[in-house]
Amino acid sequence: MSQILEIKALSRSFGGLKAVSGCDFSVREGSITGLVGPNGAGKSTLFNLVSGFVKADSGQVVFRGDRIESLAGHDVARLGLRRTFQIPRELKNMTVIENLLLVPAGQTGDRLVSVIFPGWKVKAEERKLVETAREVLATVGLSEKAGHLAVRLSGGQKKLLELARCLMAKPKMLLLDEPTAGVNPTLIRHLMSVLRKVHESGVTLLIIEHNMTVIMELCERVIVMDRGRVIAAGTPSEIQSNEEVLDAYLGGISA
Ligand SMILES: Nc1ncnc2c1ncn2[C@@H]1O[C@H](COP(=O)(O)OP(=O)(O)O)[C@@H](O)[C@H]1O
Ligand SMILES: [Mg+2]
Repeated sequence: MSQILEIKALSRSFGGLKAVSGCDFSVREGSITGLVGPNGAGKSTLFNLVSGFVKADSGQVVFRGDRIESLAGHDVARLGLRRTFQIPRELKNMTVIENLLLVPAGQTGDRLVSVIFPGWKVKAEERKLVETAREVLATVGLSEKAGHLAVRLSGGQKKLLELARCLMAKPKMLLLDEPTAGVNPTLIRHLMSVLRKVHESGVTLLIIEHNMTVIMELCERVIVMDRGRVIAAGTPSEIQSNEEVLDAYLGGISA
């Protein structure tokens, strides 16, 4: 079975602190894989390294057979590897759909397509972009909010919009950093069904998640990090009964 993402001996320190330290694992193409571990384990830093937001001190990141650890963020995104942030990025003071039209695939910087300004000439390419935005809104369940101001959305809906922005570029793989954090239980159910839909459309998912229900129900495989490295990997039920994993979590609580 082919691996879409391979992390090899990846390391990154901040000052004296080894945030990610000799980290090794891979993600199967077409899977939903969970990434768990106590706070400070290095999970978000790992996402920053993979997505080109932070440079590695050493080690490799291989995406679909190509080394990407030296690439800038927008070049990684252009290859079809996108990520969401633990805390959703600032939304522009625009409607929901306008926030999606801001993201032309693979370009640096923001450019709002002219289609949203009345009177401007609408090009076929831009009509296509609007069509994609409508499809993406339907996928995440925000169609009815298309014309609403994005800043007025609830916390959970903002996370759906963040996901929608990633989907605009039709990625091959998504890195999701705590997608359910701060989301109410009803919306968590909805988010899980959205993630299943996205997965079924052919996108490989790697999800940092503290909610064990989400991990157990969605993930075929779980990778556990502690102190910058992988301490265990297996099915959700294998992970739940792994002593080293339990120790890591208990250590994290008492620390
Ligand atoms: N940009 C940074 N500068 C300094 N320290 C950082 C930076 N990013 C992360 N760290 C540190 O690296 C460690 C791992 O953090 P992080 O990757 O956010 O962990 P997790 O997401 O697993 O909770 C933490 O001790 C954190 O304070
Ligand atoms: Mg984090």
